[in-house]
Amino acid sequence: MESLKSKKIGVLLGGLSPEREISLLTGNAVLGAMRKLGLSAEAIDVDRNIAATLKEKRIDLAFIALHGTYGEDGTLQGLLEYAGIPYTGSGVLGSALAYDKVKSKEIFKVNGIPTADYQVVYRSQREKIRRSIEGPVVIKPSNQGSSLGISIVKDEKGWEPALELAFKYSEEVLIEEFVEGRLVAVGMNGETPLPAIHIRPRSGFYDYEAKYTQGKTEYQCPADLDKTELARLNETACAVFRALKARGVPRVDAIIDSEGVPKVLEMNTIPGMTPTSLLPMAAKEAGLDFEALTLEILKKATRDYED
Ligand SMILES: Nc1ncnc2c1ncn2[C@@H]1O[C@H](COP(=O)(O)OP(=O)(O)O)[C@@H](O)[C@H]1O
Ligand SMILES: [Mg+2]
Repeated sequence: MESLKSKKIGVLLGGLSPEREISLLTGNAVLGAMRKLGLSAEAIDVDRNIAATLKEKRIDLAFIALHGTYGEDGTLQGLLEYAGIPYTGSGVLGSALAYDKVKSKEIFKVNGIPTADYQVVYRSQREKIRRSIEGPVVIKPSNQGSSLGISIVKDEKGWEPALELAFKYSEEVLIEEFVEGRLVAVGMNGETPLPAIHIRPRSGFYDYEAKYTQGKTEYQCPADLDKTELARLNETACAVFRALKARGVPRVDAIIDSEGVPKVLEMNTIPGMTPTSLLPMAAKEAGLDFEALTLEILKKATRDYED
């Protein structure tokens, strides 16, 4: 903590992705926490000039409060490596892998981590797409967050508009088996799982609105899971953390199916820290208030390479 007090911290926020608004909420909440902690921090809105801005600001440490492309995907992490500035969250490869849902799933499979059955389709082969997954599916862009571009498709007529929407966000699209079950999230404080959260959106679908509107979703933390289910979920979240080369305090999303199997949807390397966000809720249950959580994330800041 004392060593952090002597550092000039830059909170990188805003950015270029469609999740800009959420990033501003996360970043400003984190800035508030740093002020309360007596740390010297300033907001840096990330735009195409970020390399020049970093040079000019001379920060000692970067807290990355960005979600989505050009923030959560390894690109900014690469720039910070070059500039020699330690940063929060996962490194270049870990960020890139976790941000790509298709690559994540390939890695889950070779590591025996349960995940929903899927098929990958490309915009350039639009006419040739034949579905290979039976029954209800979820169609989503391979790289996006906040449920943007995601549709649940339960009948034939939903298929075309869902593909159309997902291709707006990404050239590569995932068609996943719809997993019926309990939606859960596990924050990871390094290799240690935080208490799991059971997420119950009133509409049934945890979409953008359900995620960020107060009262649209019910949360239960700690989740009402039996001992075996919880052990399996935590073990799986740890396996995801290692397999995707994560660092810091990420969050693993999964659906526990009727057989108690946690089918992993994804890992978020920079989880939201807005007033309705999951990670601060889980941290609180573990005895870490928002300031303590911010401090945990800062303490884990580092770089892939050392000079
Ligand atoms: N295979 C699936 N089966 C059922 N629901 C799903 C599935 N995939 C996603 N969802 C729903 O969509 C939400 C967002 O999906 P997710 O893969 O976590 O993407 P995002 O990066 O946008 O959060 C989930 O929280 C869940 O409610
Ligand atoms: Mg998610």
